[in-house]
Amino acid sequence: MRIPTDVLAALSGRTKTDGHRLMLVGPRLAPTLYQRVNEVLEAVGGRWTKSEGAHLFPVHAAEALAPVLATGEVVTLGEKRTLAQYFPTPEPVVDQLIALAALEPGMTVLEPSAGSGAIATAAAARGAIVDCIERDPGYATVLSDTHVARRVQVADFLTVPAEPRFDRVLMNPPFTRGTDMAHVTHALRFLKPNGLLVSVMSWTVTEQTGSTTAFRKLVEQRGGLVEALPARAFAQSGTTVDTVLVTIPATRPADARPTVWPARDIPAQDAEELGNPADIAAEIVADLRKAVAAFEEVAAALTKPAPTTVPGDIEVS
Ligand SMILES: C[S@@+](CC[C@H](N)C(=O)[O-])C[C@H]1O[C@@H](n2cnc3c(N)ncnc32)[C@H](O)[C@@H]1O
Repeated sequence: MRIPTDVLAALSGRTKTDGHRLMLVGPRLAPTLYQRVNEVLEAVGGRWTKSEGAHLFPVHAAEALAPVLATGEVVTLGEKRTLAQYFPTPEPVVDQLIALAALEPGMTVLEPSAGSGAIATAAAARGAIVDCIERDPGYATVLSDTHVARRVQVADFLTVPAEPRFDRVLMNPPFTRGTDMAHVTHALRFLKPNGLLVSVMSWTVTEQTGSTTAFRKLVEQRGGLVEALPARAFAQSGTTVDTVLVTIPATRPADARPTVWPARDIPAQDAEELGNPADIAAEIVADLRKAVAAFEEVAAALTKPAPTTVPGDIEVS
């Protein structure tokens, strides 16, 4: 987006940087202006950090801000989400994904749509050797600067030639128009014969449709497992899309069980709130009767003779 002039003026005249820190100086900004300034700072990697009394950047704050000041343009997080399908994996989902992966220290892990590294960081913290691929150079830079990965490659993963050399593939790929199925299918080719892939995927893969048939068959043939994630698991990342965790071995295990695809549940509380269908029908009929009576009243009023108005006088009916 083009940055409004008042926001640009605040960014150039009311900020001071010191290494990775950026401080706002001078009189307090009006709350709405602050919000818009903060949106730009967040878009270039800044996070307000109370303990520092500053926005902290993964790189030098002045470096992060320079292109914004030079061009007067920024791609906001909202714009990035839509364009790049950037929805970072929240911590509870990362924990669940890592548990399914049965990671061991020293294992090699591929994160092929790594974003700024929510999954990669957790895998590295468990002693894994992590290679990352990310199409967006901005997120890739943020990830490189954390030094959690052995390698960060800026590339479109779908065009990266497969090499079966990883113990694990851990991923949360983009979902639009079934791209998650394309990403996961390609990612399976990077596993060693005894490897395991765990991916966040759209709920859509659980539904039997023309576009999911081949993928569902692949999961079933490999003895894959599918677990529903709680509703709104990604709300904090800006999407309410329903999601599942899919675990697929490189080779079907001898003791594999048939894949069970989860079904959508109506939470017990909602079911109770909906009540008995017969009561709901009776309520609808009563409401319709009330509406008909109201219409009849209006119709009756309209058939009465029209009121006569005397100019300059009060209305006489
Ligand atoms: C849903 S986000 C997940 C980010 C990260 N995996 C996480 O869990 O926090 C998807 C990421 O995939 C990246 N992406 C989209 N298409 C890609 C592609 N073809 N190749 C590599 N990365 C891609 C986006 O830039 C975005 O960072």
